[in-house]
Amino acid sequence: ALISLRQLLDHAAEQGYGMPAFNANNMEQVHSIMDAARAVDSPVIIQASAGARKYAGEPFLRHLIVAAVEQYPEIPIVLHQDHGSEPAVCFRSIQSGFTSVMMDGSLQADMKTPSTYDYNVEVTRKVTELSHALGVSVEGELGCLGSLETGMAGEEDGSGAEGKLSHDQLLTDPEEAADFVKKTGVDALAIAIGTSHGAYKFTRPPTGDILAIQRIKEIHARIPNTHLVMHGSSSVPQEWLQIINNYGGDLGQTWGVPVEEIQEGIKHGVRKVNIDTDLRMASTGAVRKFLAENPKDFDPRKWLKASTQAMKDICQARFEAFGAAGQA
Ligand code: G3H
Ligand code: 13P
Ligand code: NA
Ligand code: ZN
Repeated sequence: ALISLRQLLDHAAEQGYGMPAFNANNMEQVHSIMDAARAVDSPVIIQASAGARKYAGEPFLRHLIVAAVEQYPEIPIVLHQDHGSEPAVCFRSIQSGFTSVMMDGSLQADMKTPSTYDYNVEVTRKVTELSHALGVSVEGELGCLGSLETGMAGEEDGSGAEGKLSHDQLLTDPEEAADFVKKTGVDALAIAIGTSHGAYKFTRPPTGDILAIQRIKEIHARIPNTHLVMHGSSSVPQEWLQIINNYGGDLGQTWGVPVEEIQEGIKHGVRKVNIDTDLRMASTGAVRKFLAENPKDFDPRKWLKASTQAMKDICQARFEAFGAAGQA
């Protein structure tokens, strides 16, 4: 059944676990997430970006989730809008059946330029008022996602064209977080604590102190009833990076957020952990490997199955590592 983000994360907070929130764009991703959840008895957060709706088409995306509810009746599912750029995007998602929306007012509607605090409060409050009246949960974002190591917001090719962010912008301020939650009433808050989107997060192997754990503690202490969200939480598995490059790919050397660091965050109040890049890498690596090793195959179900299995393994490992296994 579909449930709201608030329902699920309240349970996660009571029981002390974290929820991976996986991005989905197609049937194979939905299958992999749901198969993993079924294997370990975990609830699920499936999130869809504006890009996902553009890729699949709104009715297809909606019906993929309807199908998941029907095919996996024992698994509670939150259907979450990832990075809504403006209130209208969130309202369309609610019409489409989403049980949770993210209003990302940390950026202007172009999703590139950092916004003012007042703008962020205004758009987020607008979304919360309507969403709550409909039983839909809201995630806001305060601070600019970016690596504390590189100062970069992170992007597809690692070129960092957006320019360096200052140390101040890279860490959410606890007092501002408290004020923001008071003014907007959000259920969950994405915070900037040193992570960035995409595959190019860190240029060196992480040494165990790449997240601002102290900052997580301070924010959690100020807003204990608001669930903390960590974006940019892919671990960038080195084995998949190798496989991609061994079978014709050309990705640069890069590192992500170690699972142990995420577990440390969960101990201190992080409840929703956004993961997209890891599934993209596993899927691409598995397809490259399968096709290279099976040059005579041309039934797409075979290489799509390899992709689904690879993504499922990642999902299952995260459900287990974050403590969500057994909580469905
Ligand atoms: O934060 C962004 C997510 O990884 C979704 O990416 O906009 O390319 O679908 P997308
Ligand atoms: P990754 O790029 O680290 O997977 O982060 C995804 C994300 O934060 C989606 O909102
Ligand atoms: Na989100
Ligand atoms: Zn994100």
